[in-house]
Amino acid sequence: MLKVCNIKKTYKKPPVTALAGVSLEVMEGEVVGLLGPNGSGKTTLIKIINGIILQDSGEIYIGGRPVKNSREFANFLGSVFDTERSLSWGLTVRQNLMYFAHLKGAASGEVKAKFEYLGEIFDLKELWDRRVATLSHGQRQRAAIATALAHDPKILILDEPTNGLDVENTIHLSGIIRSLLEKKLSILISSHNLGFIEEVADRVYLMKQGRVVGNVRLEEPEKQEEMRYYHIYLSYDATHEDARKLELAGFRVIDISGAMLKVEVPQSVPASRILEVMSEIGLIVRSVLPVKRNLMELYRRVVLQNLPPGEVDVNESASRCDG
Ligand SMILES: Nc1ncnc2c1ncn2[C@@H]1O[C@H](COP(=O)(O)OP(=O)(O)OP(=O)(O)O)[C@@H](O)[C@H]1O
Ligand SMILES: [Mg+2]
Repeated sequence: MLKVCNIKKTYKKPPVTALAGVSLEVMEGEVVGLLGPNGSGKTTLIKIINGIILQDSGEIYIGGRPVKNSREFANFLGSVFDTERSLSWGLTVRQNLMYFAHLKGAASGEVKAKFEYLGEIFDLKELWDRRVATLSHGQRQRAAIATALAHDPKILILDEPTNGLDVENTIHLSGIIRSLLEKKLSILISSHNLGFIEEVADRVYLMKQGRVVGNVRLEEPEKQEEMRYYHIYLSYDATHEDARKLELAGFRVIDISGAMLKVEVPQSVPASRILEVMSEIGLIVRSVLPVKRNLMELYRRVVLQNLPPGEVDVNESASRCDG
């Protein structure tokens, strides 16, 4: 639904290369997280997709068509960059929805028809006729996202939507985002909140210094590839001889560190079988723990330590820009 190919952007004053060739893709009905340190280019990319600033080079495609004039595609996109500035504070929540949906070309009747649905999922019933200036930050955030959806866009883009939200509102927002998928929306969310992204996103792009350094699917471990990963903790420091025994028993050993061995095991092998094998080959095991895909671990590895994402990387979208 949304595809970004090799976008480059250097700001002139001061001269900063914000994007050094970024490619990514968001499919229909997919929630994609955009993660990366401060200054890695997330907001710049989101502004370019929305036509707020122009890229130096690179293409954006919406629904398979290249975007030459961002106005032409304005009705496809709903975005919230900066909650505090994305609504008109003197207007009520209802008036905001009307006003911004009109700007995107929606008719009043269409917007009114959406009030009930949006009021329900964003919990706006008590807020409809309140001026935005009188709302709390979390209430404004809900109103801003509802406003971004009032013209029925196909793509929703949120820049740091959990900033300033308490835990309850963050959980509420993650529920809202998942429920929007019924509408087959494509959703791109930049965030520093790894727990939130882990919960809402199907896939994440990791950015660093204006580049994508990882593209990783975040499915639950049991839905992933055919392999599972376990950390096996022995009662003593593991040796290469222990690893060799495990390999002979059919497990691939990926890592040895102190008392821990990381092994790859086919999905079909139950955890109980691993324990049996350990005792058959004479290893004294303290515990066997499944390795879960952990976004913080992944972030540490890819963004902070410059290591490859490993077995979970999926690089299909960047390569599709080449042709
Ligand atoms: N208007 C501007 N003029 C000059 N440089 C800019 C401008 N806006 C952003 N930059 C620079 O571009 C780089 C990318 O900034 P950007 O705001 O896109 O990062 P970000 O990933 O959104 O960061 P954060 O997580 O802090 O929001 C940074 O080095 C920033 O200083
Ligand atoms: Mg930003």
